[in-house]
Amino acid sequence: MSYIEVKNVFKSFDGRPVLKNINMCIEKGEFATLLGSSGCGKTTLLRCLIGLEKIDSGEIYIDKKNMAGVPPGNRGIGMIFQQYCLFPTMTVYNNISFGLRMQKLPKEQTDKKVKHVLEMLGLKGHENKYPYQLSGGEQQRVSIGRSVVMEPKVLFLDEPFSAIDAKMRKELQIYLKEIHTELNMTSVFVTHDQEEAMRMSDRIYLFHDGILEQSGSPKDIYAYPKTAYVAGFIGSYNIFDSEDFNSIFKSGFAQNGKIAVRPEAFRVSGEYPSNIDENFIVKSRISSVMLQGNIVRYSINTGSLKISADRIFSLNEDLKVGEEVFLSVKKKDVIFFG
Ligand SMILES: Nc1ncnc2c1ncn2[C@@H]1O[C@H](COP(=O)(O)OP(=O)(O)OP(=O)(O)O)[C@@H](O)[C@H]1O
Ligand SMILES: [Mg+2]
Repeated sequence: MSYIEVKNVFKSFDGRPVLKNINMCIEKGEFATLLGSSGCGKTTLLRCLIGLEKIDSGEIYIDKKNMAGVPPGNRGIGMIFQQYCLFPTMTVYNNISFGLRMQKLPKEQTDKKVKHVLEMLGLKGHENKYPYQLSGGEQQRVSIGRSVVMEPKVLFLDEPFSAIDAKMRKELQIYLKEIHTELNMTSVFVTHDQEEAMRMSDRIYLFHDGILEQSGSPKDIYAYPKTAYVAGFIGSYNIFDSEDFNSIFKSGFAQNGKIAVRPEAFRVSGEYPSNIDENFIVKSRISSVMLQGNIVRYSINTGSLKISADRIFSLNEDLKVGEEVFLSVKKKDVIFFG
């Protein structure tokens, strides 16, 4: 049995289904991310796992125990939300040590545990400050510390970094991942940001409208999307109607399907590609060139199709807007959804 098992979980609000028979398994030690667009049911599923929301039908198991009727406080879990929810009249030290003090852990052991957490989270020197004296990122680190010091079996996090600016967010992602690994925790993390999910997760569970569309490692989900929705959500796939793709590339896919191609799978070149049997090729013109960090993105207009193609930046880059080029893609890199 997996560490967390969700079996046929169904949940509705006022007669409207929000989770439609969810089945999923999360392994011990996994950093699992529930990903999906706004309103797809991520928070609802997390609240059901935590025990803050009752399910209509189905079963949830954590560490082999059926969670039906088990209140959140008895599930051996920690939780972190977008709002920091620190005790405003307590110092950082007292916020983090709160749970241990409630458990009446001897002071010496409490000190040792809190000190370790402060170090892991880069909060040394802040222990005597109050929450109002901290930045948003620091406050969220304190709330992570307050949860992980209790060494929960599972840590549940609902968009914990969404109120934090991009640079600090990346730092917090690293802190969290390090703590997850060092404490050998199982983490269930909710986000609607696919880049964050890609960076953090061992496994991504991608939801769409109350349904689990696909789960897999970030690499699997990116390289082998099972549906056009997944391809459209993750990364920056080019998505075409197969009819349009056929007419441009003479490719012969079944009509009424969808085609997905990663932008980096397209090759843009002034010269005709060599292995013509392995490639779909079309002559076209560059309509824009945009530098995005170390990636150059070409937009290519073939008339009916607008195609994005990415190349690693090179100082010798010489293709310009208006230039005629050969656009090619290996047949094996074209994904067809019937
Ligand atoms: N207590 C509630 N009563 C009625 N409807 C609710 C309740 N909680 C959530 N919903 C509805 O359930 C659906 C899923 O909501 P949920 O909060 O789980 O989405 P989400 O995936 O977390 O979205 P977001 O990314 O915006 O946080 C939404 O349509 C929402 O309006
Ligand atoms: Mg939510």
